[in-house]
Formats: sequence, C-alpha cells, structure tokens
Amino acid sequence: MTIRPIHLLGSSPLRERAQEVGKVVDDEVRQLVRDLFDTMHAAKGVGLAANQIGVTRRVAVVQAGEQSEPLVLIDPVIVERQDEATDEEGCLSIPDIYAEVTRPARVVVETTTLEGARVRVEAGELKARAIQHEIDHLDGILFLDRLSPLKRRLLLRKWKTLRKGQTGLLREVPEAATQP
Ligand code: NI
Repeated sequence: MTIRPIHLLGSSPLRERAQEVGKVVDDEVRQLVRDLFDTMHAAKGVGLAANQIGVTRRVAVVQAGEQSEPLVLIDPVIVERQDEATDEEGCLSIPDIYAEVTRPARVVVETTTLEGARVRVEAGELKARAIQHEIDHLDGILFLDRLSPLKRRLLLRKWKTLRKGQTGLLREVPEAATQP
C-alpha cells in the first residue's frame, strides 16, 4: 500500500498538461495506478489524477461510490457528450472548497485498460462528472477554472484564508483514514 502526498493548489504539476502513456502499459504505469487508488481511497475521494501526486502522465482513477466499479483511465479521451448537469464539486487538491459546476451529464470515454486494450466506457451522474474532472486535471485544468470570474475570486479568497500560516503544497494523507 503506497499512499502518496497530494499536491495542493499552487503546486506546478497541477497546471501542467500530462504526457500520453502510449501503447505500452508497463510496470511503472501499473504501479502508478495502484498508488492512485491507494491514495484516492485513503483520502476518501471519488477520483484522482496523476498530476495530483506530482506525476505528469495521462493516468487517472475514478470510483464514484463504494459499490461502483473502479475505473482506470489511461490516455482518456471523451468521444461523446450528452445533456448538461449542474452539481457540487470539490477536489482533493483544494480541500474544503466546493462549488456548483455545469458539465455534460453523460459521456462516453475512450481509454486504455491495464491490459493495453483501447475500450469505450459510458458514464452518467457522478461517474461522468468525476471522469471529466480528472481529464481536466490531465490538461492542467482545475474545477475553479470552470466557474465565473467572480465566483472563482471569492473561492480563492476563502482558500487563502483557510491556508493562512501554511506554506507547504503537499498534503499527507494518513493511512488510518482508510479504516472504516
Ligand atoms: Ni480534483
């Protein structure tokens, strides 16, 4: 079990476009996927992108609820979008900041599996939202960027107040948090 520190808003990997993995899913990528799941579960998140643990490769994981099937995203591309939905969103890299974000309600995402196959996955509701949020991360985009300038300013001000006196941009996630 490897829980990696989560990069917080202000850390540069969050603003970088992650690089494609390509056809070969090697041990390094498999280890990265395991670390992402371990870290996401410890932090009680529904998704986590590699940028958030400081690795700028196009790899992310999503698990929208305990009953939901874990989804591995490697070089994911959204190939279909349907309707729109608005719901509250947060981010493990910006703890305690939440906002309503409007996104396509249903998506079809094309992704590489751990076995190296290219597959299409259809998703709605929270899963669709999480997939889009994580793909944004791989492009260096944060959910704050999807808000109005006014709303963004307000939340950034709140973030600065919450972070007062703290300088580090890494968040250690305790393993104990995984125990029910
Ligand atoms: Ni996020």
